[in-house]
Amino acid sequence: MVSSILDRVGRILAADPSALADPFVTWNELRDTAPVLRWGSTVLLSRHDDVRELVGDNNVVYSRAATRHAQRYEDARLQFSSADRDAFDEVLDIEFAQLVRLDPPDHQRLRRTLQPPFSMRRLDDEMRSVVVRRVDEMLAEADAETGTVDFKRIAYLLPLRVLGDLLGIPLPDLPQVQQWAQTIAANKFNVDSGDRVHAAVDAYSGLHAYIERLIEAERRGDSNTGLVAAIVEAEDTDHVTHDEAVGMLALMLFAGHETTTNLLAIGTLELLRHHDQWEVLCSDPTGAASAVEELLRFVTPVHYLQYVATTTRTIRGARIQEGDTMIGVVAAANRDPAVFEDPDRLNLGRPNSKDHLSLGFGPHFCIGAGLARMEATIAFEALSTRYPDMSLDADEITWGGSGSFRTPVRVPIRLQ
Ligand code: HEM
Repeated sequence: MVSSILDRVGRILAADPSALADPFVTWNELRDTAPVLRWGSTVLLSRHDDVRELVGDNNVVYSRAATRHAQRYEDARLQFSSADRDAFDEVLDIEFAQLVRLDPPDHQRLRRTLQPPFSMRRLDDEMRSVVVRRVDEMLAEADAETGTVDFKRIAYLLPLRVLGDLLGIPLPDLPQVQQWAQTIAANKFNVDSGDRVHAAVDAYSGLHAYIERLIEAERRGDSNTGLVAAIVEAEDTDHVTHDEAVGMLALMLFAGHETTTNLLAIGTLELLRHHDQWEVLCSDPTGAASAVEELLRFVTPVHYLQYVATTTRTIRGARIQEGDTMIGVVAAANRDPAVFEDPDRLNLGRPNSKDHLSLGFGPHFCIGAGLARMEATIAFEALSTRYPDMSLDADEITWGGSGSFRTPVRVPIRLQ
């Protein structure tokens, strides 16, 4: 039994497209039969309480920074030629200097800078009308297409443009920024290709140079975004270094883009697959905010998160060694029957959907949560108001991405 679950988990972690079609069957079995599963030096946790403790820890028993030296990366590194290894290290150095991978005290120092521009009051004042406009624009583009519309492509536009507004990136520059982001993401999915690693180094260098120009525009007064202004001020008052300022802005593009696209695209797919729930939303589109919480739970845009144990301890009788890579399977936790009744059912009326862990938990809780919820709520409210007859135009969906970031290749729908 355990060996077959290991096989299936292995296929998901290796991003086998057939395993990505329905990983929840495997995640559920993992949680119910082997909630603490050791796989070499990696341990997978899948119960809600264990995952919450893991994700919510702030370098007391688990470290984010130490993940830089996880066995998984050491193994990947050895597959490269020595010339490629330098590029591999360069990418990891950049990514492990980003906020989401920092431990205290650096984490709090950087995070403090971002909190005011992401407060709900500031988002309501500065971003709500922008998001409404971008949703209208996105649906107008869908409307302009005849026949079947690929909603994955349409859903991709909204978070990208909203990030552009947040960072002061003009619309004509977005395709280039998107290309850098995709090149970097392609490398994250496949840490075994020298070409991809070199392409990622080049993409980071292009992206960072572009971000330097955004910062200069803010300093000259040619730009007016609360987020860039807050980061420039933190740099001027020596709360963050210049490299940290650039890194924080670069992280936004990854943390806030494909995650939100997944929520919109897979959320739409699941609503159309569970037509009774689509009808519930269409009968009262003002319920979109609570629908979004249930979709966050049910979809789980990021299936798992990784850390490294800093102490030796025991969980449910299993020994965790210092240095073990710890994977918290959020997708399994979000369907834990100990927390959610009838968890495999999409139920927009569920009273405790908000207990999901899709946006993290504790000190690293998603700083863009308010913005992601705002985008998805406005988008689903508009979709259910304007297109109640919308339907899925495919029996099967092809899945790609990675084990942690599973994403549909296309979501073909008919709007009317
Ligand atoms: C549905 C969309 C989103 C999902 C599912 C999501 C998910 C997450 C998760 C799970 C974490 C915690 C990671 C961890 O603890 O290891 C996180 C952190 C973060 N997210 Fe999001 N996110 C979303 C949207 C956004 C948006 C729109 C932004 C910004 C524009 C954003 C910016 C960040 C940042 C900067 C962090 C790091 C916070 C820290 O380390 O203190 N995210 N996100």
